[in-house]
Amino acid sequence: MGKTTRKASSSVVIGAIHNFSDKEVELFREKLLSWYDLNKRKLPWRSIAATEADVNKRAYAVWVSEIMLQQTQVAVVLKYFEKWMSKWPTVWDLATTTLEEVNRVWAGLGYYSRARRLHEAAVKVVKEMDGNFPSSRDSLIKNIPGVGKYTGGAIASIAFGNAVGVVDGNVNRVLARIRVIGSDLSNLTTIDHMWKLADELVDPNRPGDFNQAMMELGATVCTPKSPSCASCPVQDLCIAYRQEGNHKASLIASNFFLKESSESRKEKIVTDIECLPGCDLCLRKEDLDERYGVHNYPSKKLKKEVKEQVLIIILLKQTDGQMLLLKRPKLGLLANLWEFPSISCEESNEILTQHISEFFALSKSVVNSRNFVGDATHVFSHIKQTYRIYKIDLKEDKQLVSWPSTYQSGKWMSKEEFLNSATSNAMKKVLKVVNTWEQKVKKSKRTCSDDHKDNKKQRTISHFFKAATKND
Ligand code: ADE
Repeated sequence: MGKTTRKASSSVVIGAIHNFSDKEVELFREKLLSWYDLNKRKLPWRSIAATEADVNKRAYAVWVSEIMLQQTQVAVVLKYFEKWMSKWPTVWDLATTTLEEVNRVWAGLGYYSRARRLHEAAVKVVKEMDGNFPSSRDSLIKNIPGVGKYTGGAIASIAFGNAVGVVDGNVNRVLARIRVIGSDLSNLTTIDHMWKLADELVDPNRPGDFNQAMMELGATVCTPKSPSCASCPVQDLCIAYRQEGNHKASLIASNFFLKESSESRKEKIVTDIECLPGCDLCLRKEDLDERYGVHNYPSKKLKKEVKEQVLIIILLKQTDGQMLLLKRPKLGLLANLWEFPSISCEESNEILTQHISEFFALSKSVVNSRNFVGDATHVFSHIKQTYRIYKIDLKEDKQLVSWPSTYQSGKWMSKEEFLNSATSNAMKKVLKVVNTWEQKVKKSKRTCSDDHKDNKKQRTISHFFKAATKND
């Protein structure tokens, strides 16, 4: 999220259109929950929350699933969640494992600090709380590292049945459309209002289901690019949808009232959804394009600029096929993960040779035997990395190499070991490029030697014919 701003609360102007009446709250709960009961996806963390009698096991499962679901889609999380829960079914099991093992199971899910925080927090819950999770949103936020308002609200409502709301990207979009909230979502007035609405709307009789239904609606019906308004259970309460309908009606009407000025026509149709002048939550008039209806909400944020970086990857391979992997520092991007040695350098070949030679303490002649394999790219949330991959096949058995002390340690691994260790998807892409290159080289060597054999065969046959001719 970008910069946030807060106005003095006395000067904040919010029109009634952005709130719900008591009657609307009642209708909203009823319609949303009926829809959810018929349409909810069967998800493993939901089954645990619904059937597990032990409240700490429920809290643990909801906590793990919610952390995994941050920035990752449900379909991807499913496999990881099952594996995680079968390895560590309780917070006690997680607390007694190693961070290395946690990273290994998390490998490929991205945003790796989430795994480290889960592990650290599990140790805390066991050591300081005897394995008992706090039950309220505020105490969860206060006592569990990595738990913010969203995760705290999800655990408190889904596992403990507390009537508190949740606001994530999906809920923001649903609320923005239903109550035509077009102000910047990173603005504190907007953030406060979204939480106020979520806390007011949540059904006190089924808070966990209600919150999951809101997220489900955003994920499956009120989607960013192609919302299915026709099948939306709360369509009647959606002002953005009404605005869109009014626009369509005004287009139709314009065919009948050609002589009427467009301004007076507009007045007739949209007066019921006008807001207060200077309202802090309205979409700015110049940003509203009536043709786009519900797509006007929420307001479009400016795309963050993605930084680009080129890294040189050196894949060192022993004669037995083992590859050198280095363990990244304890903090920062991809902390504690294993990677192929990488050098941030875009200089001439000569300087690169010098760098590589110093990096591994290898002779320049060995370094010069490197082959360029190809490029791989990976986009993280804020940075696009291009990996320029070189491979050095070491000729001496178990050749000694070293690496910079910024890495925690190094290890020679087979391909299988590598694929089972704590590595990022980016490094798996690198290995794929290397595999493809190796297969191509093998094939071209085979073709060369086949050509050579064919030549030899050809010579033998023609020799035979020559000999035969001679004998004729
Ligand atoms: N996204 C985040 N939490 C979720 C949940 N409990 N169900 C579905 N989608 C979610």
